Amino acid sequence: MSKFSIPVIPYDSKFRVFWNVFIVLSILAATIIFSYRMVHGEDKTDFIYVLFTVIFSLDIFVNLNLSVKKKLDVISDRPTIIKTYLRSWFIFDFLAAFPFPIFIGLFRPETLHNPVVANILASFWFFRLLKLTKASGTFREIQTALNINPGVMRLSVFAFWFIQMVHFIALGWIMIGAVEQNRSHMDQYIRALYWTVTTVATIGYGDYYPNHEKNVEIIFTIVAQIFGVGMYGYIIGNVSGLIANLDVAKANFLKKLEEVNDYMRTKSVPAPLQQKVRNYYNYLWETQKSAATGSVMEELPYTLAMEISLFMNRGILEKVSLFRNANDIFIREITQLLKPMVFLPNDYIIRQGEFGDCMYFLSVGDVEVVVNNNIVAHLGTGSPFGETALIQGEKRTASIRAVSYCDVYKLEKSDFDVLRSKYPEFDTQVKQVAEANMRDTQAKTKQPKE
Ligand code: CMP
Repeated sequence: MSKFSIPVIPYDSKFRVFWNVFIVLSILAATIIFSYRMVHGEDKTDFIYVLFTVIFSLDIFVNLNLSVKKKLDVISDRPTIIKTYLRSWFIFDFLAAFPFPIFIGLFRPETLHNPVVANILASFWFFRLLKLTKASGTFREIQTALNINPGVMRLSVFAFWFIQMVHFIALGWIMIGAVEQNRSHMDQYIRALYWTVTTVATIGYGDYYPNHEKNVEIIFTIVAQIFGVGMYGYIIGNVSGLIANLDVAKANFLKKLEEVNDYMRTKSVPAPLQQKVRNYYNYLWETQKSAATGSVMEELPYTLAMEISLFMNRGILEKVSLFRNANDIFIREITQLLKPMVFLPNDYIIRQGEFGDCMYFLSVGDVEVVVNNNIVAHLGTGSPFGETALIQGEKRTASIRAVSYCDVYKLEKSDFDVLRSKYPEFDTQVKQVAEANMRDTQAKTKQPKE
């Protein structure tokens, strides 16, 4: 029985993601604002100070009520959450949130006039910086929760640290007194930022440069330049790769298409056929954002693959009249047996007179039923076809030609037979479909079956 009435926030809740984003932005703002103030000796306990105190205190409160993940286990029981938090981030969060100057001002206001105490207090802003150590973990969580492209995420993390570094180098430039002292704090900061960016980006206009009489400024500039070169190398090395990988699926698809094109060129495949193959891949890309049907599924464990295929086939299963009243067990079983296939316009999916070894369900597209070169019917999404030859044990009674691009699901004869023997209702229904088709064909072709 718990005394707390506040519910534990679930690990995968939207609030958690919102809060993490909010905290990362607050950390960025706080470190920039408080370090700026520290450098300029502005240790004000004003509205902004109180605002961040409240935000960071709220963060402690939220963390005490937030489910945590330990390795792969999600911990949702409050005492363990509290224990885990106290042992990990609490001390940093507490030091970052606690308003030391206000607290001391309340109880021992006279000590605030002591220069030593004032200096110590002024450096307490540093605790706000401790929150930075948490930023990387938070970025990872945001990425997992929002399923953000890893490339985009890495670029954002890079931008986050880049902004911080540039800011701190600019503050360093101010601290060593390299800026024009007669200017206002904001003027000094803007000019220091300008010097930093031109130095770090290896642009170096030379309009702001170190005083040649002051070693500390020259050394600081050298350090900033080395940092800039490293940064530049990192950007050149990573960003192009990151951008290229932003769309991994597209990159893989183009690679695959290039391989196929190469193969067809070396084998001197006729141009129209090459075009047909390319059209097929483009269709796969447009419909599945992949160059292969079902390749990812092969790597998944059976139960997961099954769940995914149930989800993906749900649409077609709902549309097929044969399955409309089927129970869950039947649906699960047939889902495992269906194999996706793609046909291009004018492809023959079935040819009249062949022996049938499978039947199909049309998932997307249109096909026409052709008997002795006469179109006898059109079939659309959800239609089954190819069942008659399997039931009768005879040759295909008609040809089936794709009118548009067609996504179909194929069911092998052996599996079809097992389903018919296990599920009599399916057997009855499929026989009715076959009979109706045959009657219709006979009526339209006026050639009674011998
Ligand atoms: P099967 O004979 O195995 O192969 C051709 C398929 O076309 C056949 O099974 C039926 O599923 C289907 N078919 C034949 N005639 C018609 C029709 N008149 N209307 C709809 N489908 C048909």
